[in-house]
Amino acid sequence: MARPDPHSYFDDAQPRARQLRLRWEVDFDARRLGGEATLDFGTEVSGVLDLDTKGLEISEVSVDGRPLAWDLAPEEPILGRRLRLDLPAGTRELSLRYATAADAVALQWLTPAQTEGKRHPYLFSHCQPIHARTLLPVQDTPAARVSYRAEVTVPEALTAVMSAGPTGVVPGPRPGTRSFGFDMPQPIPPYLLALAVGDLATRELSPRSRVWAEPATVEAAAWEFAGIEEMIRTAEALFGPYEWDRFDMLVLPPSFPYGGMENPRMTFLTPTLLAGDRSLVDVVSHELAHSWTGNLVTNASMDHFWLNEGFTVWADRRIQEALHGADKAALDWAIGGNGLALALERFGGDSPLTRLRTNLAGLDPDDAYSLVPYEKGARLLALIERTAGRERWDRFVREYIARFRFTSITTEAFVSFLEDKLPGVAAAAGMARWLHEPGLPDNTPQFPCATIERLAALASGWPSGVRPSPEQATAWTPAELLLYLQHLPRQLDHLDCAWLDGTFGLDRRGNHEILVEWLTIAAGSDYEPAFPRLRGVLTRVGRMKYLRPLYQALGKHPRTRALARSIFAQAKDSYHALSRRVAESLMEKYPSDAA
Ligand code: BES
Ligand code: ZN
Repeated sequence: MARPDPHSYFDDAQPRARQLRLRWEVDFDARRLGGEATLDFGTEVSGVLDLDTKGLEISEVSVDGRPLAWDLAPEEPILGRRLRLDLPAGTRELSLRYATAADAVALQWLTPAQTEGKRHPYLFSHCQPIHARTLLPVQDTPAARVSYRAEVTVPEALTAVMSAGPTGVVPGPRPGTRSFGFDMPQPIPPYLLALAVGDLATRELSPRSRVWAEPATVEAAAWEFAGIEEMIRTAEALFGPYEWDRFDMLVLPPSFPYGGMENPRMTFLTPTLLAGDRSLVDVVSHELAHSWTGNLVTNASMDHFWLNEGFTVWADRRIQEALHGADKAALDWAIGGNGLALALERFGGDSPLTRLRTNLAGLDPDDAYSLVPYEKGARLLALIERTAGRERWDRFVREYIARFRFTSITTEAFVSFLEDKLPGVAAAAGMARWLHEPGLPDNTPQFPCATIERLAALASGWPSGVRPSPEQATAWTPAELLLYLQHLPRQLDHLDCAWLDGTFGLDRRGNHEILVEWLTIAAGSDYEPAFPRLRGVLTRVGRMKYLRPLYQALGKHPRTRALARSIFAQAKDSYHALSRRVAESLMEKYPSDAA
């Protein structure tokens, strides 16, 4: 027996489910999802089967219609409870009746007041990396891919969407309900299972893409993402055909803890992308790029997470370059580089968490999450691209995707395929160091760009009084302004804060990257005029990428610490469990303010 993934009880010597069939009923009153999950093995199997579960209440287990005994092991803090079954000879299907826990991490239940429409409740799921087990009993490792079908019963005023193709809507089993059918015929890692239920409207964007959102948001969303078809075509030209049939998107309520999640056929997006000027659509191209790197070719476990995210960041930069030119890509590399520097500083340059190939056994992968696999990973791939030459590398990437499509692979599999197709390139790039050593190697590729140098030079003059002229300031693109702000000192005096806000209209920005960068400076500067906006953003938005710098910066002064605590008390009920944890762990590190 062998357990290849430290975050799952999956044993690769045991029978493997090939298809899931889900019958779920969504109970907004009890905040539970109840129903039946059937694991179809596709062939006759027998013997011990270990499944991952967390918080599930199991009421009945049967094999081909006959009851079966089960054994739930004690709770392990990260993994949850192992569900052990002994399948009789000739088993083809295993069915489990169960309900989720009211505090299942994969689910966030919103009251009507927490939605935009204020009239209906809302439910959404998020499973990556190891939360699918709070939704259903499953071999919860990306190594065990499954196709799935689902039938989801919801109150009749609401619409259900999943990471799958819709197969129709029928009246539900009880009055006042409707059942939505779904089919995902392609094998996916369980972390890509996704469901959302709410008062949803939709707009067509192209023959293969539409956007879903609450009615009050859907027009803005359709405008923001109107360019989606051009993005898909650009990505196809680089990486090969789009294999998932449709690319639909769902704009979630603001408590969604991520910027985007690449759920196949239904990418989930934060509403903070609706900047009103299409300046944040690169999050969409990132999630789209996952359709190749991540969803077609998947990391075998979180120890190989850089294969998902590093590859996708690299792929997105190529999409940006193809769409908007090398300077836009260089700006993105620079902005990403600033984030990488902060992540390396946070962990310490010699932390094992700054290796690309990690060993996360015993660690919660949500705690290990950072930009390192994203930006260090992307830089390694850019280095290999330069070492091999773009033409050879691009051909390699298409071969890589074609060879490993619909499989889940390790770093070692990637390295050996690379050596096979482009012999010597890994050694010339010093790849082993990149993968297995912490920090950033000194052969990190640079992305020189005159605009960036100008902005950095201008920002470095700040302490000696150098300021951009109003004409300069108004001509900057959002990415340029963001880069400039990132280069400014983290603490400014209040006159400087006022000048900055006045010159760039920062407090009113719809682009949340810029708004949050400004509020991070304002919080770190104890700048009171920004407090209402800080409270507004932090009580509305649950995106962890924004909570981290803001709660951290608020920790610098007694008055802002008090503000943070007061904001958190007001916001915590609307935060997702993951966001709450992030805010709490940052506030725990605040110095004590006892008098
Ligand atoms: N798949 C990730 C989100 C994720 C990773 C969630 C690991 C949980 C565990 C998604 O593709 C992502 O990277 N989103 C980013 C946006 C991107 C442009 C860097 C985010 O949410 O900020
Ligand atoms: Zn990603």
